[in-house]
Amino acid sequence: MELKRVMDNVYWGFNGRKRLVSLNMTPSKQVYGEELFDIGGKEYREWNPFRSKISAALYKGAKPLSFKEGDTVLYLGASSGTTVSHVSDVVSAKGRVYAVEISEEMGVSLVLLSESRKNIFPIIGDARRIEDVGIAVPACDFLYQDIAQRDQTDIFIKNVKKFLKPGGEAAIALKAMSIDVYSDPRKVIMEETKKLSRSFRVVASIDLYPYQKGHSLVIIKKG
Ligand SMILES: C[S@@+](CC[C@H](N)C(=O)[O-])C[C@H]1O[C@@H](n2cnc3c(N)ncnc32)[C@H](O)[C@@H]1O
Repeated sequence: MELKRVMDNVYWGFNGRKRLVSLNMTPSKQVYGEELFDIGGKEYREWNPFRSKISAALYKGAKPLSFKEGDTVLYLGASSGTTVSHVSDVVSAKGRVYAVEISEEMGVSLVLLSESRKNIFPIIGDARRIEDVGIAVPACDFLYQDIAQRDQTDIFIKNVKKFLKPGGEAAIALKAMSIDVYSDPRKVIMEETKKLSRSFRVVASIDLYPYQKGHSLVIIKKG
């Protein structure tokens, strides 16, 4: 397979069809049944756009996100760690991913994942009140949120203001249905984006259809 660099440790691989892959930090280990590829003596994991909104955004033509090797990333809505594991590949052993998840059930898988991936720091708690968990989260280089809650935009704004370094970028996977089931999803996304633009500079908004229906990834920059 031929590789073309996208971000640190992330590539487009070409072998008949185009696939996004990340360099596997824990060779021979899969996280969610993803395909593994041995290329030039290194192992890569397919980053599936149907399972991860960051991957979906890249498939939809988004510019590479700004986080890189060695960065500290705050990840809100980690679930069992599907996308977290790829973010962990990007920042590598030199970086850290603070991964917040409210569900204790999902948290069990996340904690297990952090045992083999030492750069993942799981936080089982509510992203609305990370300070209550008692884990000191440092200022981060990048913040990502994927939380299907009615107040998702407010949770994001609060955490970006508190934890993102000035000049840093952050991305939110907006799920229109969780905010308002009755309105046109495009209108909901537009209103939430407008709300974000009152606090930050909106850099891009990417509709994730057909990989993730009713979702958009909005990227902002903190002044
Ligand atoms: C769509 S899933 C996340 C999928 C994950 N980001 C991925 O790509 O692998 C949303 C997750 O957010 C979690 N969640 C919902 N509300 C939350 C909150 N207030 N704080 C932290 N996590 C929350 C849910 O339990 C669920 O696991």
